[in-house]
Amino acid sequence: MNTEKTVVITGATSGIGLETARQLATRNYQLVLLVRNIEKGDQTRKLIQEQHPKAGVELVIADLASQQQIRQAAGEILQLADKIDLLINNAGTWNSQRSLTEDGIEEVFAVNHLSYFLLTHLLYPVLAAADTSRIINISSDSHFKGKMHFEDLSLKSNYHGLRSYAQSKLANVLFTYEMDRKKPHSQVAVNAVQPGLVKTDIGLKGTTWFHSFAWKIRRSGGIPASEGAKTSVFLATDPDIAGESAKYWDNCRPKPSSRSSYSPEDARKLWDLSLQMCGISDYFSETRG
Ligand SMILES: NC(=O)c1ccc[n+]([C@@H]2O[C@H](COP(=O)([O-])OP(=O)(O)OC[C@H]3O[C@@H](n4cnc5c(N)ncnc54)[C@H](OP(=O)(O)O)[C@@H]3O)[C@@H](O)[C@H]2O)c1
Repeated sequence: MNTEKTVVITGATSGIGLETARQLATRNYQLVLLVRNIEKGDQTRKLIQEQHPKAGVELVIADLASQQQIRQAAGEILQLADKIDLLINNAGTWNSQRSLTEDGIEEVFAVNHLSYFLLTHLLYPVLAAADTSRIINISSDSHFKGKMHFEDLSLKSNYHGLRSYAQSKLANVLFTYEMDRKKPHSQVAVNAVQPGLVKTDIGLKGTTWFHSFAWKIRRSGGIPASEGAKTSVFLATDPDIAGESAKYWDNCRPKPSSRSSYSPEDARKLWDLSLQMCGISDYFSETRG
């Protein structure tokens, strides 16, 4: 890899992630796109390189619902890059029906929170190797309605798509703040983003016809994905916010997140449970594979 800055983006094959990748390609980032579908990944790479022929785009394939695939993908990324300047944990899902991953974890919690937690852990050595690096976790204002169901994180007893999604997005903010408290390197910044209400297909993928219909109506009042990517791109590139960490950003400005997102007890509890669920003994000690 020969360009100066490397960014890893998850979920770059559609919506906000795709637009973020396209916009960063114009700024000479070397892109590593972590995607689950190789055909969509190839189309995305082609689209970016048609517009920016000089953009370096690597594809790494993984279903983020599988911890084994996340570990494999991280191993491939570590082979590609000695340092990573930017990690954007963006992939997200919304499921009407409860489903379990191969690891026995409710899928929305696994993809929307645990994949962020595990991938960041596995890539931390190369994030810490950059002079300065930024981690961006894509959350949502849905987290204001969220509650951590610590007694039943997989929502076995009381599943609803909204409950599961809002819990996972609250977990993104709790993780961001706890990561900032725990990380041993001050040059690594970690922030959470609310992209706005964005016209994407997120509500059409794992949903019943009724939820799809409701999302079509709701998203009609939203902004295009190119605008939804604005705050992520700002946080990734603006030189004036270097060193800003542990903040919740909306429309390129920090704003207060929900009251429950500031609970250090909940953040610690989530961290410890996430360590157990991912089989990690020491979050910051992993050496390069
Ligand atoms: N749209 C909104 O109004 C809104 C508002 C607030 C926050 N957000 C957040 O923004 C982020 C991006 O969502 P979006 O609206 O842009 O939705 P989207 O268009 O559906 O994009 C989601 C991306 O995540 C990928 N993905 C989903 N499950 C995956 C898995 N198991 N493994 C690997 N990749 C997976 C998708 O891959 P495929 O292309 O293969 O489906 C896609 O690239 C999410 O974190 C979402 O929670 C969205």
